[in-house]
This record gives sequence, C-alpha cells and structure tokens, in this order.
Amino acid sequence: MCSLALLTLTCTASCSAIPETVSPTQSPTESAASQVDCSLKHCVALTFDDGPDQFTQNLLDTLKPTNTPATFFLIGSKVQNFPSMVKRMEAEGHQVGSHTWDHADITTLSGLELKQQLERTDEAIKEVTGHSPSVFRPPLGHHDESHNEQVPYPVILWDTHSHDGRLKDSQKIIDAIMDTVHPGSIVLMHDTRNTTVQAVPELVSQLKAQGYTLVTIDQLFASELTNSVAYSSGPQVTGK
Ligand code: NI
Repeated sequence: MCSLALLTLTCTASCSAIPETVSPTQSPTESAASQVDCSLKHCVALTFDDGPDQFTQNLLDTLKPTNTPATFFLIGSKVQNFPSMVKRMEAEGHQVGSHTWDHADITTLSGLELKQQLERTDEAIKEVTGHSPSVFRPPLGHHDESHNEQVPYPVILWDTHSHDGRLKDSQKIIDAIMDTVHPGSIVLMHDTRNTTVQAVPELVSQLKAQGYTLVTIDQLFASELTNSVAYSSGPQVTGK
C-alpha cells in the first residue's frame, strides 16, 4: 500500500482517489469500476439493446453524473449514423457489444450469413472505437447450440426483462425490473424507447438503495467469459 500512502500524503483536495491505477488506455470511470468484486458485492448489469438511436444521447447524459456503467448491444447498421455516441460510450466506461448488423434472428441464418452479420458489425464498431466488440447478444434472444458455436464472442442473454416494449410506461418498467432483479442479474432494456430512458434515473436510484452495485458485463463476470457460450446471469454471489 506504499503507493496509496504516498498518494494520501501528496494528494490535494481535487485529487482523484484512484489515479495510481489509471493507465493511458483507461478512463478514470473504467478504472474505478473495474475494481468492483462481484463475488463480494451484489452486482447488477444494466444492458441496452438495438441502439445507437435517437434517445441514446439522453441515456448517456443520465448515466454520467453517477458514473453508472452499462453495456450496449449495438446494431451494426446504425453505428455509422451515431459514431460520436459510440465513442462516448467507451470514453465514459460503458461496454460495447454486437447485436448483429440488422437485428437478424441468428437461428434462421446460414453459416455464411451469420459470419457476414457479425463481421460487418465488428468492422463498423472497430472503425469507430478502434477495436472489436467484446460480447454478443442474439436479437430476440433466439439462439441455439449450432449457431452459438459459430459466434466468436460470449453470448449474453438476460434473466431480468424490463418488458419495455410492452409496458411503455416508465414506472411499470421500473416495477417489472425491481420485482425480479437479484444479485448477479443481467437486465434487458432498449435505448430505442424514450419511456425506458426516462425510467433509468429512478431505476438506478432504487437499485442502489437496495445495495446493488451497477457494473458492465465484463465486470459482472470478472472477464471470465468464454466465446460461443451462452450466459443469462452472473456468477453466484459468495460474499455477504
Ligand atoms: Ni434487439
């Protein structure tokens, strides 16, 4: 803890609490959040599908003041329309995943079609962020063993559904999530819906009040994810 002691001695009032762990490739938000141990904390991962879209900017504005990280499963064909938003996601500590090029049901695709859906999306995201997406979510949650085997990313599903497509009401969306959320939950939402984005500040507030720590998918699994394997929930909490 020598570096921490030195930091304490030399730190001014404006000094961040974590500068000694910030590498040139990490934002302060990423560095702070990556220290979360979800085997001890009650972690929940908020995930947003089908963007980037017209409400994504508002969502990022909403998440920023509390440094709340989320994971975005992007549609490749939309990325070129909102490149600055995708750059901003990464800069502000969010995780970026693939959701195919045009929201294709992967179980209906040939091997070549699936490869093209994934590669085009990978290239679109890489062109903006400089690297490939790290996780994949199949549109509609449709997946099967034979198609998963051809996906070169971890396949991330969910265990807590906001039902935001059906409910179309911020309070009902919050209630649907709070009724089913548990330690290790992956929560499905859509940043294509204004009612969903409007629900987020109160949702985050309620989750924190119940002792949850909000994390990205990589943080939820401590980066222990395997390509082609499907996951619906984070690992079991072994701590408090
Ligand atoms: Ni979708």
